[in-house]
Amino acid sequence: MNDASPVRGTPRPAPTLPDTQTVTEVKHWTDRLFSFRVTRPRSLRFRSGEFVMIGLPGEKGKPLLRAYSIASPSWDDELEFYSIKVPDGPLTSRLQHIEPGDPIILRPKPVGTLVHDALLPGRRLWFFATGTGIAPFASLIRDPETYEKYDEVILTHTCRARAELDYGGQLVNDLERDPLIGELVAGKLRYYPTTTRQDSPRMGRITTLLRDGTLLRDLEIAGITPETDRAMVCGSLGLNADLREILEGFGLREGANSAPADYVVEKAFTG
Ligand code: A2P
Repeated sequence: MNDASPVRGTPRPAPTLPDTQTVTEVKHWTDRLFSFRVTRPRSLRFRSGEFVMIGLPGEKGKPLLRAYSIASPSWDDELEFYSIKVPDGPLTSRLQHIEPGDPIILRPKPVGTLVHDALLPGRRLWFFATGTGIAPFASLIRDPETYEKYDEVILTHTCRARAELDYGGQLVNDLERDPLIGELVAGKLRYYPTTTRQDSPRMGRITTLLRDGTLLRDLEIAGITPETDRAMVCGSLGLNADLREILEGFGLREGANSAPADYVVEKAFTG
């Protein structure tokens, strides 16, 4: 289901209450997934791939906050987020009903490990995402720095059903046609979507496709090596653990902001 054209409100300045921003656009992609845009605090600087705490007022005035990757690139005037809807999730059960004009709490302290600074220079960069784990990569694939640093950028995205790939698919499509960054992206960004519970042109968990050689064969890549390849991983705890093992098997070492290396991992927001 992709019924919704985005609902946009009339542009308005960011509210003056501390840490409060205004929702400018909401788009429902499936009954489980939605994206939204909010005003950006003028002072907020972040690195593509980082996350911030956002949320709504909770009981007794205590804010209910969760970590959300910023899905928009650092040059964008607004901030974009991509979220799952959990029917009984304390935050998302309410957040899924936001509309343009609504206030949202945003703590302007971006952090995270899915950043270029945490990786040593390389030739090829892999983004491995499942579900809403595509959000930090939605930011990174729109960042010119990604294409300045790497000759080849591969985004894999695995979801249960085809419609859950729409957000990423549309993004990649739009990017290739973008007058500003399209030329940088062309010929460098490769997109590899797969589904696990509904038929689609490519099926299977990315871990399986990596282990059995299908992924590398499909992309006509000879192998993943610490000399050429760097990777960022964002998904469930299970996916992250499995990919860690696979990447270590290829000889890649985990990096951090304080000690850059070959790959980095972060858990996608799920609640
Ligand atoms: P599967 O359908 O086989 O569980 P979810 O919607 O539960 O967050 O999952 C998103 C996608 O991530 C699904 O396609 C799911 O596959 C896949 N996935 C979940 N756990 C792992 C894992 N440990 N390794 C690889 N893929 C995983």
